[in-house]
Amino acid sequence: MERGKVTMDRNADAPWSKFDPEVYVDDNYRTPLEVDLLIVRLMRDYFTRCFDGAAPRSVRGVDVGAGANLYPALSMLPWCEKLLLLEFAPPNVEYLEKQVSPAGYDIAWDPFWDVLREAPAYGAVDRPRDRIGEVTRVEQGSLFDLGGGTRRWDLGTMFFVADSMSEAPEEFHRGVRCFMGALAGGAPFAAAFMKESVGYRVGDHDYPAYRVNEATVAQSLEPFTGELEIHDLHHSVRPGHEGMLLALGRRNTEVAAP
Ligand SMILES: C[S@@+](CC[C@H](N)C(=O)[O-])C[C@H]1O[C@@H](n2cnc3c(N)ncnc32)[C@H](O)[C@@H]1O
Repeated sequence: MERGKVTMDRNADAPWSKFDPEVYVDDNYRTPLEVDLLIVRLMRDYFTRCFDGAAPRSVRGVDVGAGANLYPALSMLPWCEKLLLLEFAPPNVEYLEKQVSPAGYDIAWDPFWDVLREAPAYGAVDRPRDRIGEVTRVEQGSLFDLGGGTRRWDLGTMFFVADSMSEAPEEFHRGVRCFMGALAGGAPFAAAFMKESVGYRVGDHDYPAYRVNEATVAQSLEPFTGELEIHDLHHSVRPGHEGMLLALGRRNTEVAAP
């Protein structure tokens, strides 16, 4: 009799200390995919609408589980007086520190900035490499420790994290709650998820995922949102998932979380 898998890979079980950011960038971002450029455009236009008329550099932003991806941070740049990149895996923390150092970020991120700067608020940022270095702090820590904390941000992103760090449904939902709980009432946010992902490989290591679809994502976010749109992007970047979901919205003020 064939036995099914009985254990579930939880967040604490995955080899985060072995995560290779350069391989991850090679696999996902070094050659920009249409779907990521589309996500960047949607996020740019959404944040521009949310901050219409707001003073530049007036809010505190956070990218949770930033990993080796700078485009969520760049998407928040015009409005942030402070920007925190929270990341758990030490090699990714090191990668991010290098990206925001005076040496400036890798040219791999230029095509994403080129899309962003088509909008006036972004175009008004003269030197994005200097600006991101001035406003950004990288912190090693877990998303789960944001829950119940007192820190709140006015703008936030979380890309491929709650669904891409554990197979456990409880950890997916807790991850979303912790992210939403870290946002102040009214805060705009963008969150992206791999649709129906069965896990992913980076270099020689396998990482877990919880399979989500549009309904799962909507159900997890709705209690915390006053405004929510979910874009189902039917682009598959590798075998083992069915596309990407981009949620754009604002944190409501009614519900205390988590
Ligand atoms: C699939 S990667 C996504 C990285 C990046 N945000 C992106 O858009 O490509 C998942 C990320 O979640 C991070 N991660 C895993 N567990 C975490 C936790 N408990 N708290 C915060 N980040 C975590 C990993 O280190 C990794 O950077």
